[in-house]
This record gives sequence, structure tokens and C-alpha cells, in this order.
Amino acid sequence: MNATSSNTSNPEQNKNSHAPDSSTDASRTDSAKQNSPGQQMWGGRFSEATDSFVAAFTASVGFDQRFARHDIEGSIAHATMLGKCDILSSDDVTTIIDGLKKVLAEIEAGEFQWSIALEDVHMNVESRLTDIIGPVGKKLHTGRSRNDQVATDIRLWLREETDNIIALLVRLQSGLLDLAEQHTDTIMPGFTHLQTAQPVSFGHHVMAWFEMLFRDTERLVDARRRINQLPLGSAALAGTTFPIDRTITAELLGFEGICQNSLDAVSDRDFAIEFTSAASILMMHLSRMSEEIILWMSAQFNFVQIPDRFCTGSSIMPQKKNPDVPELVRGKAARVFGQLMTLLSLMKSQPLAYNKDNQEDKEPLFDCVDTLTGSLLAFADMLPNITPNKENMRAATMKGYATATDLADYLVRNGVAFRDAHEVVGNAVALGIKESVDLSDLSLAQLKQFSDAIGDDVFEFLTLEGSLAARDHLGGTAPNQVKQAVSRARTRLEVFA
Ligand code: ARG
Repeated sequence: MNATSSNTSNPEQNKNSHAPDSSTDASRTDSAKQNSPGQQMWGGRFSEATDSFVAAFTASVGFDQRFARHDIEGSIAHATMLGKCDILSSDDVTTIIDGLKKVLAEIEAGEFQWSIALEDVHMNVESRLTDIIGPVGKKLHTGRSRNDQVATDIRLWLREETDNIIALLVRLQSGLLDLAEQHTDTIMPGFTHLQTAQPVSFGHHVMAWFEMLFRDTERLVDARRRINQLPLGSAALAGTTFPIDRTITAELLGFEGICQNSLDAVSDRDFAIEFTSAASILMMHLSRMSEEIILWMSAQFNFVQIPDRFCTGSSIMPQKKNPDVPELVRGKAARVFGQLMTLLSLMKSQPLAYNKDNQEDKEPLFDCVDTLTGSLLAFADMLPNITPNKENMRAATMKGYATATDLADYLVRNGVAFRDAHEVVGNAVALGIKESVDLSDLSLAQLKQFSDAIGDDVFEFLTLEGSLAARDHLGGTAPNQVKQAVSRARTRLEVFA
């Protein structure tokens, strides 16, 4: 086999666009020495060099170089701990840390030569460290394995990404609170089965979105606690013979806890699955909101406008303004669900402890994070900037006999049993349909023919404003309740800000 015969495993082509800007150089030979088995970092027991296709196939550096900064941060903490525990001399630790900082500077400057022969980000960094500082660099891996190292890198990286995502969610939610507050009195039809059901406040509808996103935020904050645990110190699987102190490493890296079992720590990726699962639920919510925006932007609804910057035109139909951003977010939800299935399937048959399968955890997770982050960036700017077409919303509410339940409730208050009231109103609606008028346009005489319990005060209950104002309890759509909900929500959101 020949490396050139496969392009699917070429790290250059797989490289994630968010990875540090750098090149992957399969020909780098100073440390890679790919054709001399005894000189690979792990080559001591080998008598034959790795097949060049296998080297490319098994390498992860094309994508895991995205962890470079976190890998070095983890190594600095590990070396510091080794020094504090007298496992390495303080001179060695100082040399190692200075060297690691130089490696990081090279990576950040885009000058680092990534090598496929060095397999992954961990060995690329370590090898370059030894190039720069000499043999002392070879001491860094004391009491550590790539198994606990990679688990640590993923957690450090995912913690940071989770924080970004939570910040975006908070921005989106506070934008929605402003929008809801402006529109507590804007009336729209509320739907069940996508049929006009009862009038609601547009602000109330926006607050429903807020509640979905609030639970998503809680889920991510909760998942973060389980992401934020230190695996380092577990070494390959069983721990290490050196007298390490994991509390030092945990504190240096800002972990709030320490993984309690070495076998579990190096193998399970449930924290990533949990994140992806929370991400999937969140994308499902963004997709539902997208669906509503798309429907509402159609000429048939004509309920809202979104700013032109979130839309595109058609190359053939000059009149078109297409809601591309919400459509794409609706589509991207499918991708994130797919990554969740990938990670679950990846994990389900793995015996303890680490297996190479786990190298496949990174690309789905990266894609999930990037898709979610992009969708939230678009939404944080777009959703709070939608403009309701109040007249159209109101006209649509008038069309659907949305106050029929209010008439039934009125009859109940005047002594009619609810089932009988339902029947009476059904007859009144049938007359309205026949005459093509709303219930509030029927005369008192017309209404009274269906029930004696109808008096001349009935009309105040048939107005849209009356209907909204009557639902005046916690969680109801009365504008005064929506105002209170917004103000409570501002306080609730402060916890995450
Ligand atoms: N690149 C590997 C991964 O992503 C790092 C750990 C490799 N460990 C090993 N023993 N081969 O999982």
C-alpha cells in the first residue's frame, strides 16, 4: 500500500478549518524518522517500519492539532506537578515549560511543521519540544500516557467551547427578552394543529422560545460540570508508579473534580455524548423556531419580516426573498443529530479501557460544536431582530373564530355546563361561517337565539384584547403576565451571565 493511493486519510484534506494555521508535512524527518522503526517514539519493540499508508490512515494530527493549545496547557500543568512532587527537578521543569511555550509560539505563528509520521498532536508537540530543548524534553511524558493526555485535551477544549456556546445562548435570550417586552400587547393567533386556536400575545410566543433556550442553557451548564473533571494521572489505564498529586494538576487546569477511576477516565466519552445530546435538543429547538419564521415569512402568513442580511434572492425569480438562514439552521439540526448517533455508536461496544476507536470521537464533536456555534451566532443576531406585521397578525386572528372558547367560558360563568356551552358556541360559529363574519360581528339577537344566557355584556368578552387580558395567571398570555414573565426571566438569566 502507498500513502498516495488514499486521499481519504490525508490529514491535509481532513484538516478542520478551525485548526491552527499550519502545514502537515509527511516528509519531516528530523524527529519523525518514519522509516527507521527503532526510532519511532514507540518504536523500540518493532522490527519493521509502519507501512506509509497505515501511518497516514492511523494518524489524527490532521484534525487533533485543533487541541494544540490545550495539549500544551495540560503538559505545562503536568510538568509543574511532577516538579512539585519531586519527580522532576525544578531546573528540568523550567526548561520543559520554556520549551513548551516556544512550541506554542511556533504553532500560533503558523510556523510549526506538523508531521503525519508523528501521528497526533501529542507526539508532534513532544517531539518538537525535544528538538528545541534537547533530551530533557523526553522526561515530560513521565507518569503520563497519551490516553489520559487526549482525554484531558478534549475536556479542556470542550469546556472552553461550552462556555462560548453558553455565552451565545445568553446573548440570544436577552435579545428575545427585549423583543418580548416590546410586544406584550401585539396580538397574533395562537395555533394548535397549525389551525387558529386562541389569540395570544406575540410577546408570549417569544417567551415560549425563551423557555426552551433557558432549559438548553441549564442542560449545558449541567453537562459542563461533568466535562470539567481531570483524567490526567490515570496514565495508560491503571495509574502510575510515580508519587503524583492529581489535586495539583486539577487545580492548575481549573478542573472542579478528578476522575475517580483510571480505567473509566481514559475510556469513556460520555461527557462528549452528553454535550452532543444537549446540543441536539438545542438544535431541535432552533429548528422549530426556524420552521415558524419560515412559515411566517411566506406571503400566505405574512406575519414577520427578518432583516435582508439573513436572506438571499433567487437567480431566476426577481421577487424572491428567501429565508436561507432559518432554513439552513433547520437543515443543520439533522447534522448534529447524526453526530450524536456517531458518538453513541462509537462508544457502545468498547470494552474497558482505551481503544483506538476513540480517535474517531473528535471529528463528530468538532462538527457538532462548529455547527451549533454557527447556528447560534446567526440566531443571536437574527431572531431578536424580527419585525412582526401587527396588522396582518391581528387580521389573521380575527379570521379564525379565535374567541370561541371565550364565549363558551362566558356561558359557563352564566350557569351553562361547559359541554352545553361548547355546543352553543359551535352553532354560533357555524352561523358566522355561513355569513362570513366573526363572532363579534353577529348581533345580540343572532347570538341570543343560541342561548338565553347571553346578555349584552357578551361583546366585551369577544374582543381580542378581552380574550388576552382574561388569561391573567402565571404562565398565561395576558399582557400584564407576559410583562412579569419577562422581568422574572431577566433575573433568572443573570445566573448564567
Ligand atoms: N490520537 C489518539 C486519540 O485520539 C491519542 C491516544 C492514542 N493512544 C494510543 N495508545 N494509541 O485517541
